[in-house]
Amino acid sequence: MVSLSKTTTEVFKDSKICKLVIISCFISCLIFISSFSSNNLFAQENSDCMECHADPAEVASKVRVDHVTGEVEIVTMVVDEEEYHASAHGGEDFYCIDCHSDLEDSEGEHYPNLQPVDCVTFCHDDPAATFLEGSHASLMQEKGVQLPTCKYCHTGQKSKMNTPRADNLEHRGDTIEKCGGCHEKYYRSYRNNLHGQVTAMGYVGLDIATCVDCHGQHTILNSADPESTLGSEKAKETCGKCHPGAGNSFVKHVAHPAYKDVGYYKSALIALKNIRKDPAEIKSIVKSPQTLLTVLFVAYVGLLVVTFAQFGTHMLLSWLGSILDDRKENKSDHG
Ligand code: HEC
Ligand code: HEC
Ligand code: HEC
Ligand code: HEC
Ligand code: HEC
Ligand code: HEC
Repeated sequence: MVSLSKTTTEVFKDSKICKLVIISCFISCLIFISSFSSNNLFAQENSDCMECHADPAEVASKVRVDHVTGEVEIVTMVVDEEEYHASAHGGEDFYCIDCHSDLEDSEGEHYPNLQPVDCVTFCHDDPAATFLEGSHASLMQEKGVQLPTCKYCHTGQKSKMNTPRADNLEHRGDTIEKCGGCHEKYYRSYRNNLHGQVTAMGYVGLDIATCVDCHGQHTILNSADPESTLGSEKAKETCGKCHPGAGNSFVKHVAHPAYKDVGYYKSALIALKNIRKDPAEIKSIVKSPQTLLTVLFVAYVGLLVVTFAQFGTHMLLSWLGSILDDRKENKSDHG
């Protein structure tokens, strides 16, 4: 037995084939392990990136062309740590390379133009679907309006990177302008409403209504749709978040007063002209609470005009009268 085993080991030791097998095993093991741990060996920690990106002496500003809008912008390559940590992705469990994934295996210096960050594929496919497959996005496409990117609405003040949290006040104010940029008419009428006037004065707290508080975020439906946040039943819930006990008549409050909009008067005149052909049109205008508001506004302005006109003519006449009196007195003094 013993002599036999000795001979087998000796045979093994002497065999060149065996040596080759052991060496190649060792090498392939090394390759195998290193392929698994390459992330750990070369991956950049946030601090590695910040060695350059926190230091204005290392990184400067750069002119960049937005790949979607084509806008030329000057962006600073310095990452403001305070703003970054306050942003939605500034927590401990985010790595720079999670988003800047083409730098996953790079070390130190890297090539200058990176792939734009992809918010959707690995992280936000659900919210992306609510937006991209929603009727708001399809309406934009129907009207030939270029779909805004995620970063258009979710961008920080200093950098697109610093995605603000929903309760960030600057972001709330900014969102009004973002929606308003495409909806100028409704933006102007919002500003004629108490909600819009309060936010215009700079107060954009969570308790005052911005566009998205009434219309929703990714799923925006027409207010005439019962499923929309402003549908006949749902509106009570939507307004009720801030106006407890909001009932049927409260929600009829006009959120977009049109009385300062020339277009509104024009369309009313046109409907009046077509009253024979299409009586439904003028009926719907008359029925709308907008009409009562407009009538009140016109009556109010009318009253002001009449009052001031009366007051003005009275002043003018008495002024003319006093001049005439003065002249008469002067004449009689000389005479
Ligand atoms: C050795 C210094 C250095 C290190 C380390 C470094 N960067 Fe940079 N980075 C730069 C410089 C310089 C630029 C500006 C390049 C230019 O002007 O085009 C830049 C640009 C960038 C840009 C903008 C690219 C573009 O397309 O405009 C991003 C994003 C970026 N770096 C992310 C990172 C991340 C993430 C890390 C860590 C994995 C990192 N950097 C590590 C120096 C560095
Ligand atoms: C949640 C994703 C995310 C994380 C995490 C992230 N970034 Fe960014 N970063 C972006 C986006 C989005 C942009 C805007 C450019 C783009 O769309 O590619 C950007 C842009 C940049 C730029 C170019 C400047 C600018 O304002 O466009 C630099 C530099 C940069 N990031 C560095 C870093 C560093 C360093 C870290 C880690 C401390 C980091 N990023 C972490 C998403 C991220
Ligand atoms: C027209 C503007 C707009 C666009 C475009 C947009 N969003 Fe939003 N999104 C909002 C608003 C408004 C909210 C509510 C919270 C806030 O203001 O941040 C929100 C909320 C979110 C949230 C947090 C709430 C949730 O549903 O989990 C995520 C994540 C999000 N969006 C991802 C995306 C992604 C990904 C895209 C691109 C496919 C995108 N958004 C495009 C306006 C937009
Ligand atoms: C890139 C431009 C763009 C942006 C940004 C945008 N919209 Fe729109 N929106 C449109 C277009 C185009 C339509 C189709 C109707 C029209 O032409 O007004 C539309 C339709 C609507 C409608 C009517 C929906 C329907 O089914 O009839 C509402 C309400 C609305 N948007 C609210 C918003 C709000 C709130 C925001 C901000 C979160 C916003 N929009 C941001 C372009 C935009
Ligand atoms: C207090 C709630 C409220 C706020 C805030 C608000 N809206 Fe509206 N919006 C409404 C109501 C109610 C209607 C339907 C009646 C009407 O047209 O006035 C409407 C109608 C619209 C419409 C026409 C399509 C539809 O669904 O009827 C658009 C577009 C729109 N709003 C955009 C905006 C934009 C953009 C902002 C921000 C600048 C905004 N809204 C702010 C309540 C609001
Ligand atoms: C995010 C909170 C918020 C939402 C949602 C909201 N409002 Fe308001 N609204 C306010 C605040 C704040 C004021 C001003 C407070 C005040 O002076 O009473 C206000 C004022 C008003 C006023 C003026 C009357 C008054 O009390 O002075 C009316 C009417 C009104 N809102 C109607 C609505 C309707 C209708 C809706 C739903 C379509 C709505 N609001 C949704 C916060 C909100």
